[in-house]
Amino acid sequence: MHINSDTVAVITGGASGIGFGLAESLVHRGARVIISDIREDALEPALNLLNKSGAHVVGYPVDVADRRSVEALAAETMRLFGRVDLVCNNAGLISPAAPLWEQDEQTWQRMIGVKLMGVINGTTAFAPQLIAQGRGHILNTASSGGLSPLPSRSPYTATMHAVVGLTETLDLELKQVNPVLGATVLCPGLVDTPLGHNSASLGAITLPPSTPRSIRDLGASLTPREVAEAALGAVEAGTVHVGPGEGVLERTRARVERLLADLAVGVQ
Ligand SMILES: NC(=O)c1ccc[n+]([C@@H]2O[C@H](COP(=O)([O-])OP(=O)(O)OC[C@H]3O[C@@H](n4cnc5c(N)ncnc54)[C@H](O)[C@@H]3O)[C@@H](O)[C@H]2O)c1
Repeated sequence: MHINSDTVAVITGGASGIGFGLAESLVHRGARVIISDIREDALEPALNLLNKSGAHVVGYPVDVADRRSVEALAAETMRLFGRVDLVCNNAGLISPAAPLWEQDEQTWQRMIGVKLMGVINGTTAFAPQLIAQGRGHILNTASSGGLSPLPSRSPYTATMHAVVGLTETLDLELKQVNPVLGATVLCPGLVDTPLGHNSASLGAITLPPSTPRSIRDLGASLTPREVAEAALGAVEAGTVHVGPGEGVLERTRARVERLLADLAVGVQ
């Protein structure tokens, strides 16, 4: 799907990080954009930055874990623009660092609610409109942790693997309806965003006060804008997976090779 000034895009988790980077890249291509986020107070400064150069980006508060809230976002998008071409289900959190058996039930519920049901709610609310228009694409943000194991983050990894499988299936389902429709899953490595701080402010993790605000200090080499450009390139090319970042390809190859080797033993 080509992205240009006719494109209308919706981004969840758009007030910060990768979602904000997607908004910047879309504005740069002339698209009309709605950013939505659960942190209402973060929407205004994000809109001020995005609209500085004369763009007209709109903000809308949403909790992606709440189906009705996402339905309201879809209704508002239709009221404002009468169509939607690109749906970016991007909002997310990180889970506490601990082995699976020490993760509490609330963490599982929260990660399933935001990371998995958030993507399902966004797809359910918007896909009928894409189908009716005969044009559109869904971009789901997962993680490289959805392509290979990530010890000590099982609630994160489990939901990200689910988003990868869900998107592969969704792409086939959309194409069965109309071959011009499609879905892409974004699986980046470490990106320089305030994911830890935002997750802490939303009660998903606790952070020692000295924790650096940016993931750059943990070795993140990618900027949100670089990730956004890779993601939009994949949307335009109709690619199902995109995994920018150092080591993502190698870690995924190692997992797939191990999977195939294990399965080959089983069939002998
Ligand atoms: N930063 C990384 O290294 C990295 C790597 C791979 C994948 N990701 C994924 O990218 C996505 C974006 O994360 P980011 O790194 O840009 O972090 P971020 O904290 O900068 O952005 C995430 C945004 O989602 C919002 N959000 C959280 N819960 C929400 C909810 N229930 N409803 C609506 N909005 C909500 C937050 O308020 C925040 O603005 C996440 O899904 C994350 O898991 C991040």
